[in-house]
This record gives sequence, C-alpha cells and structure tokens, in this order.
Amino acid sequence: MATMQGFGQMIEKLKKSPKSIVFTEGCDERILEAASRLLSGNFLTPVLVGNEQKILAAAEELGYNVRGARIMDPERYERMDEMVNLLCEIRKNKGMRQEEARALLKKGNYFGTMLVKMGEADALLGGATYSTADTVRPALQIIKTKPGHSVVSSVFIMVRPSATGENEVLAMADCAINIRPDADQLAEIAINAAECAKEFGVDPKVAFLSYSTLGSGKGEDVEKMRQAAAKAKAMRPDIPIEGEIQFDAAVSPKVARTKCPDSPVAGHANTFIFPDINAGNIGYKIAQRLGNFDAYGPVLLGLNAPINDLSRGCNAEEAYSMAIITATLACED
Ligand SMILES: CC(C)(COP(=O)(O)OP(=O)(O)OC[C@H]1O[C@@H](n2cnc3c(N)ncnc32)[C@H](O)[C@@H]1OP(=O)(O)O)[C@@H](O)C(=O)NCCC(=O)NCCS
Repeated sequence: MATMQGFGQMIEKLKKSPKSIVFTEGCDERILEAASRLLSGNFLTPVLVGNEQKILAAAEELGYNVRGARIMDPERYERMDEMVNLLCEIRKNKGMRQEEARALLKKGNYFGTMLVKMGEADALLGGATYSTADTVRPALQIIKTKPGHSVVSSVFIMVRPSATGENEVLAMADCAINIRPDADQLAEIAINAAECAKEFGVDPKVAFLSYSTLGSGKGEDVEKMRQAAAKAKAMRPDIPIEGEIQFDAAVSPKVARTKCPDSPVAGHANTFIFPDINAGNIGYKIAQRLGNFDAYGPVLLGLNAPINDLSRGCNAEEAYSMAIITATLACED
C-alpha cells in the first residue's frame, strides 16, 4: 500500500525552493482563508488577482490576514502593454488583435495565466468560481503542452486516511479534461498519470479499465482500451500495465486469480485509466463519496507549467492543499 508524500514533505520542499502561486479569484472567501494559512506557514507566496481595495476589505471583514501576499490587479498592472503584445504574439496564428487581447486580460483567468507565462509567478490555482473549461482553456492556449507531449490531461490523487497512519493512495485518470480520448491519447495519459502518481508515493500498477477482461467482452471501447494498454506497454515496458481489465479483476486478488491469473497488475492495480470522461468523472466521485477517499485534483498533466483547477464546490482546506500540491510541482526533481 502506498503512502502519500505527506504535506509536511511538500512544505519542506517549498521552504528550500520558495515559490509563488497565482489565485485567479483573489476576492473569494475560501481563497483568502487559504492564502492567510499559507502566509502564516511562511512557505509559499500567494499572488491574489483582483482589485486591491476589494481584496483587502474582504480579508479584513472576514478576519483573514493576507499581509505578505502580492495583489495584482489587471486594471493597474504596469506591464499590461507588454502582456497584451505577448498574448497577441502567442495567439497570432488565431489572428488575435490588441483589443481582443486587452479585453481577455481583464479577466482573472487569462491575466493569471499570463502572469505565469511571463515568469511573475511559478504556478496557478483557479476554479473556485471559474468552470474547469474556463480555467483550463487559457492554460491550453497560452502555456501549451510540454515538449514531447501531445495532449494535456489530468489525474486525481485519491487518498483514504487510515487509523494506522498508512493512508491508501490511488491515481485515477483522465476524469476531468479529455472527453473521449483515443487509444494513443490514453496510452500517453496513463504514462503521465503513472509518473505523477510516483510523486505522491505510489509505485504505479496501471489498469486500463473496461467492461471486459482480456477479451471476455467485445465492442469498440474494449478494443480501444486493449490497444491503449498495448501501446503503453510498448512505450514503457518498465511500468506494470494491464488491459483491458474490469475494475473487480484490477483490485481484487481473488477475482484476479480467476480472470487473469498471470497478470502482474491484476488484483493490485493502483493507477486507473478510464475509457472516457463519463466513466472517469463518475468513477472518482464514487470513490470519494462512497469509498471515503479524499480527492486531490484534477492535477493537470502534460502542461508546460503547473496550473490546476479547483472544484467550484471546494472549501478553503481543499484550496490550501491544492495550492501546496500545485506549487510543489514547480519544484525541480
Ligand atoms: C478542456 C476543454 C475545456 C478544452 O476545450 P475547448 O475549451 O473547447 O477548447 P478548444 O477545443 O477550443 O481548444 C482550445 C485550445 O486548446 C487546445 N486543446 C484542447 N484540448 C486539449 C488537450 N486535451 N490537450 C492539449 N491541447 C488541447 C486546442 O488545440 C486549442 O488550441 P489552439 O487554440 O491553440 O488551436 C474541453 O475539452 C472540456 O470542456 N473538457 C471537459 C471539462 C469538464 O467539464 N470537466 C468536468 C469537470 S471536472
């Protein structure tokens, strides 16, 4: 059973390598609470996007101390002309003009993403009020995919606390970005998810999930998952990978003995690849709501800088935890 790299270890990393993180919704109550906690811990600098007076008034009223945070207002940003030019340059193949860029940059999601692009901050956490699409789209357009990657995807790190202190940690992908990934994309998603899982203390054993186990059922999606597993195995023979495989065979050693006795993954899978976003999104929420797992994510994979999305239903604790996870991903090694 894997034990998640504790938040203590992440905080130690951040103390050694100080980072800053943009919050695109600087006035939001949950963000202000998370920012004040980060500041009191003195290991990560929040960059709050929004009107300074409004942010300070909201913090004062709610009783959160955000002294030490950088407050950046798109209306008063001294490098705005440079930012507009850079955005036009990045989007020139889409014919972006100055007026359009200037209008987009009044919005916290585009402005915040450009702050990361321009090196004003190391990471970004949005989504307290923006939808996933509105948080992710600027990142896809501006930050873009890492060299050698063809797709941005996401993983949820699922942690079930245990009384003994040895938490159970799983990875689930892609539950939030790609609506209907093909076999090539799924292979890439799986490898990225496995690599990310390692960062959280998981020794990845990857299952490409399906309603069929190694040919027991037939159908287009069965074939897709079989091909995806084969491609991923060919790309990374060092990672234990199985597929297509049903969820019970993936996690239950007893079922695995009957359905696929020779598999190195079956019965012990901890990194789950879903055929599409329907399955993934429903799957991680079942684990969260009925299986008592805490869900950290979606952690975006394959982007050129760490940018993550909060659920609009998040609380301050989740914003705080995700900020630490996101900023840690900006640390070397
Ligand atoms: C992620 C998502 C927002 C992107 O789609 P979109 O906003 O319609 O964006 P577009 O298709 O117009 O693409 C915008 C840019 O991102 C790129 N892009 C889109 N998806 C991408 C991906 N998965 N990886 C890399 N780049 C991607 C496009 O190529 C395009 O680039 P360009 O403008 O430079 O040509 C969309 O896939 C989506 O809505 N996913 C589901 C989100 C969701 O609701 N999740 C559930 C809740 S957690």
